[in-house]
Amino acid sequence: MDKLKANLILDKNYQIAKVDERIYGSFIEHLGRAVYGGIYQPDHVEADEQGFRKDVIELVKQLQVPIVRYPGGNMVSAYNWEDGVGTKEDRPRRLELAWRTIETNQVGTNEFADWAKKVGAEVMMAVNLGTRGIDAARNLIEYTNHPGGTYWSDLRRSHGYQEPHRIKTWCLGNEMDGPWQVGHKTAYEYGRIAQETGKAMKLVDPTIELVACGSSSTAMQTFPEYEATTLDVAYEQVDYISLHQYYGNRSNDSANYLAKNLDMDHFIKTVIATCDYIKAKHRSKKSIQLSFDEWNVWYHSNDADKKIEPWSIAPPQLEDHYNFEDALLVGSMLITFLQHADRVKMAAMAQLVNVIAPIMTENNGRAWKQTIFYPYMHASVYGRGISLKPILTTPKYDSKDFTDVPYVDSAAVYNEEQEELTIFLVNKHLQSTMPIDMDLRSFQGYQLIEHIELAHDDLKAVNTVDHQAVSPQQNRNTCLSDGLLTAQLAKTSWNVIRLKK
Ligand code: AHR
Repeated sequence: MDKLKANLILDKNYQIAKVDERIYGSFIEHLGRAVYGGIYQPDHVEADEQGFRKDVIELVKQLQVPIVRYPGGNMVSAYNWEDGVGTKEDRPRRLELAWRTIETNQVGTNEFADWAKKVGAEVMMAVNLGTRGIDAARNLIEYTNHPGGTYWSDLRRSHGYQEPHRIKTWCLGNEMDGPWQVGHKTAYEYGRIAQETGKAMKLVDPTIELVACGSSSTAMQTFPEYEATTLDVAYEQVDYISLHQYYGNRSNDSANYLAKNLDMDHFIKTVIATCDYIKAKHRSKKSIQLSFDEWNVWYHSNDADKKIEPWSIAPPQLEDHYNFEDALLVGSMLITFLQHADRVKMAAMAQLVNVIAPIMTENNGRAWKQTIFYPYMHASVYGRGISLKPILTTPKYDSKDFTDVPYVDSAAVYNEEQEELTIFLVNKHLQSTMPIDMDLRSFQGYQLIEHIELAHDDLKAVNTVDHQAVSPQQNRNTCLSDGLLTAQLAKTSWNVIRLKK
């Protein structure tokens, strides 16, 4: 058996890439209580003049979310964006087919753009390529991005928005590879509509960036051929390809569960290879970047969701209550993004409020933080700068689906302007503390600021509205001397070690 000790060398010259802060993005879909009862509840004591909950805005701001995907998700594939603009009383109620609820359309494009501004985020807008196509998409972008003097831009102005929203990032549909998707398409069918819709949208506003759908998970039969065919057809118009992946611990095998970011790593590497193969085939100079615009843990709520009656308004769908081990896997997934900072340029934790979310609310009550809130917040707040290449030696283990799983995952971000170094680490060992030595000698003059630790004896511990059982603490046993740092990573723990000059 390997000796239980890890070793890490970091050098400010061993760089992967500058972290694109948009990897800390998130997602709000018209689904369950994400919008209604989540970000928006006009009769709540915390509601602002537009009906947005100020308590939720405050928690979203703590996460420093830079970009939010909207309005779906599966929902977008049968959505008429026109239903969500103009006088609220005149907006139609519709059957929402993806989640089989009733959509009241009291929040739409303009309100969401306002909310995003309030939380300090950009909007990543998805267009409907399920039931609709080029025409609806080009009208929508004329409505949101054109200054005025045309039918759709003047309609926006008549709705009280003189200035265009200037939305830069657009998703060409959602999970079009999935048979569950309204308007599901083969890769060739999708590639064609993505190419032509993208072309029309860029004619309206050439400054935008477009994300094409890739696979909904590594388990899809069509992965990675879906990416290859789509890009082969739409390479010219597209800037990013999307990846979606959710994990769960259905068989209650924590060692195997905590290793699942290795599947994410394999997903990312395969999509990079596929993009670069099509790049070579097209003799193109342009590289397609990755947008991991849905990722998280999702399984706790699956059974409860089967019992929800159809056609209600904002039912409690996909309300996973996350436990401590979920927070560890979320931490490892964030580390995986940082290890691929050269190609993963956007990502969206799915989702943000109530629906498989770090933030929960009570209707008419309080807002609170799930366990996964913490690694997400730490990475977003401290993980801005240059992702460094960690030279890590760690003992490994085998699990049901994986071999050679590193007990320790690590990523490091060097913020040159602030003269700060942050090291993110997960210890996946279920029984043992992991001692780690770090060689940080290239960071001369740096001092240890803190070692934040998220640890708990019970992997199944959850937070509730009344009790934050899983919350970060300080680990005060970490030492830095002459550029050598020694730390003890508690068994099953998420760690953030911060240094500053
Ligand atoms: O995030 C929940 C759902 O998961 C999204 O609507 C869909 O895109 C994915 O299948």
